[in-house]
Amino acid sequence: MTQTLEMLGRLTSFKQEGSRIIFEFENGRLAVAVLRDGLFRIRYGFQGKFMPRRSWAVAQDDSAFPGVNFQLNEQNDSIELVTARNILKVGRAGGGIQFLTADGKTLSQDDPESGPLFAEDGKVSTLKLIEEGDHFYGFGERSSLLEKTGRRYTCWNSDPVDSDLDHGPGADALYQSIPFFMALRPEAGGYGLFFNNTFKSVFDVGHSREQRLGMEAAGGELDYYLIYGPEPAAIVELYTELTGRMPLPPRWSLGYHQCRWSYFPEDKVYEIAKNFRERKIPADVIHLDIDYMHGYRVFTWDAERFPDPQKMTADLGEQGFKLVTIIDPGVKYDPGSDYQVYNEGAEKDYFIHNPDGSLFHGYVWPDDSVFPDYARQEVREWWGDLHKVFVETGIRGIWNDMNEPSISTTPFSQVGHHMDIPDQAPQGSGADRTGHAEIHNIYGLLEDMGTYQGLRRLDPERRYFMLTRAGFAGIQRWSAVWTGDNSAVWEHLEMAMPELSNLGLSGVSFAGTDIGGFFGASSPELWARWIELGAFYPFSRGHSCAGTPQKEPWTWGEDVEDIARKYIEWRYRLLPYIYTLFEESTRTGAPVLRPLLYEFYQDSRTLNMNDQVMLGNALLLAPVYRPGVDYRYVYLPAGRWYDFWSGQPCDGQHLLAHAPLDTLPLYARGGTVLPLAPVMQYSDERPVDLLTLEIYLDEQGAAQGRLYEDDGETFAYERGETCLTTYQVSSAGGQVRVTARREGSFQPAPRAVEIRVHSPAGLKQTRQEQDQGNWEITL
Ligand code: GLC
Repeated sequence: MTQTLEMLGRLTSFKQEGSRIIFEFENGRLAVAVLRDGLFRIRYGFQGKFMPRRSWAVAQDDSAFPGVNFQLNEQNDSIELVTARNILKVGRAGGGIQFLTADGKTLSQDDPESGPLFAEDGKVSTLKLIEEGDHFYGFGERSSLLEKTGRRYTCWNSDPVDSDLDHGPGADALYQSIPFFMALRPEAGGYGLFFNNTFKSVFDVGHSREQRLGMEAAGGELDYYLIYGPEPAAIVELYTELTGRMPLPPRWSLGYHQCRWSYFPEDKVYEIAKNFRERKIPADVIHLDIDYMHGYRVFTWDAERFPDPQKMTADLGEQGFKLVTIIDPGVKYDPGSDYQVYNEGAEKDYFIHNPDGSLFHGYVWPDDSVFPDYARQEVREWWGDLHKVFVETGIRGIWNDMNEPSISTTPFSQVGHHMDIPDQAPQGSGADRTGHAEIHNIYGLLEDMGTYQGLRRLDPERRYFMLTRAGFAGIQRWSAVWTGDNSAVWEHLEMAMPELSNLGLSGVSFAGTDIGGFFGASSPELWARWIELGAFYPFSRGHSCAGTPQKEPWTWGEDVEDIARKYIEWRYRLLPYIYTLFEESTRTGAPVLRPLLYEFYQDSRTLNMNDQVMLGNALLLAPVYRPGVDYRYVYLPAGRWYDFWSGQPCDGQHLLAHAPLDTLPLYARGGTVLPLAPVMQYSDERPVDLLTLEIYLDEQGAAQGRLYEDDGETFAYERGETCLTTYQVSSAGGQVRVTARREGSFQPAPRAVEIRVHSPAGLKQTRQEQDQGNWEITL
């Protein structure tokens, strides 16, 4: 029960300290920091003081931002901070915020009758007005449609019980919590809001009260950042400057991944690999789920099932496969055994205790388990170092699962319930010491951080792949994300588009859903449609649950296998483009897979465009996501578009696309250049010996594109060993001129380049035997 609610009362004084203003109110204080033009931090210290800085989600301290000049105006009812792009008003009565564009359009404002509040039980909240025409996106990993008005969104990392209903449109909290949203209005532009609070929080977007946006957290501070766009790309760029960006993943991890719970013993793993190579379906990665371990003890191998893991990784490595192993945070409670992970963790007191001081226990795969306190630096280091066993074995990726953490009240053989670690269970150390209530949402993120940093210490020059189920804002700094246990139902294929789109807008580029659905049996038609879309996911992995029918690409006979081969081959052909998009995301946070509104938010038709997505700025996908459908409606925003398969320009903006089972309607945007590689069976089967540039002219006969390259597997790119080629295309008098300019010290292998120019006049093409990097041709 919320007890007495307190408001700030009246403003008594304020003072400026550099780019920050401290406002003193009768019942507390407020700090407003102007970090950049368009980036403001708002912090209420209701008890008259501010909490210690929490470094968990925000990548850099306020002092690392340049700060900007602003003007202070004292008005009768507010104090105004005026920058070149925004006005931010602080109400003298109650400390409410109004955020405007420089020309006076309100982006967001606190409800004048409510606004910032705190309660005796520690809850903090604020209520904002929803402006007419606002559309909401983001909120991290969410089921339901793209636009988020009308619902409540809880941030509390959760592993929903095994049913498709729990992931369906009605689902609320899932595995990731990202308390960030963006609001867009075509005429005023958009803004973003990041609630910098790791306690359980809730956003209520016009659900309980019409045209009101409620925002509350169970504890901590009312501390949030306002980000001005106006366009989505600018919002994501600032949001990821705040919470960090993804490091470049190894290039091979952008290939196709095959997984199942579980491939064992090792013969089975070899058999899966052999099938891919014999059937000529490209793939780079096989995942080992929990059954590789000895009795589900993390960091061990089952010696009977996997007698020589090092030999296995080497053999499969020769065939071009990398292996990824799963890890869960629950460590088997194993006193008196020789299980070193438990013994060492217990001896050094690394596991979480209950508020009464006893060791906290819960049940996961190994049954009775204990849980590392990742909020402590030394525990993260210990955990990171435990990965030595994998590094030495030649494992190239770590998959962190069950890290919400997902815990059961009883052994898995009995019917139990999910439980959380008690809210008051102490974690962390020093100034970061706090209860589980504040750590819960970042438990997985801290595990991922420890893993990432450990791998970097153990094998400093090699990029590893990381995958996580749980996370919080900023998870992109440590790991790729998959959306947990979906089902083999059409609704979950459809849902993948808005779910991945909103994750992308929330800073998480490297994401995918289980292709084919985790639970249940997939029909041949569903799996075929799923691989057509899934082959374009930033993270592309087929997976399935133990006890379900097999779901490898060849399971349903030749027709589906041919479809899988076709789309996975296209993924490999597109790898130069996809890798370039990933590199862009490491610098700007731009999502690799994006909703149409990311490119075209001023076109109001895109604001609810739920069933079309873009891969980068050049490709538009309009998948079929219903059974028995072989024609579908496609909307093309203004500009010239080409049918990707035929290369022909499209006629009009509203199309009825023919989409028989082997066809995903796919469109290339005029004005772009797609760099393509030859088909390969795995990403580095051989260097790209023929680079194809598919050029799509816009209405002015122009196009631009980029190609980023490096060695694909080391951190040399951080030292500048990269190569960026920029393509510029223009037309005059029926002739097309293409120029390539290369910069950077990395030297791609010698190759030929094939240039194919698409325009309404048809296809022009030519080929040069030597791609010299810098060249100019006319055709
Ligand atoms: C969880 C994961 C799933 C995995 C299974 C067994 O359900 O979400 O991907 O296969 O655990 O480890």
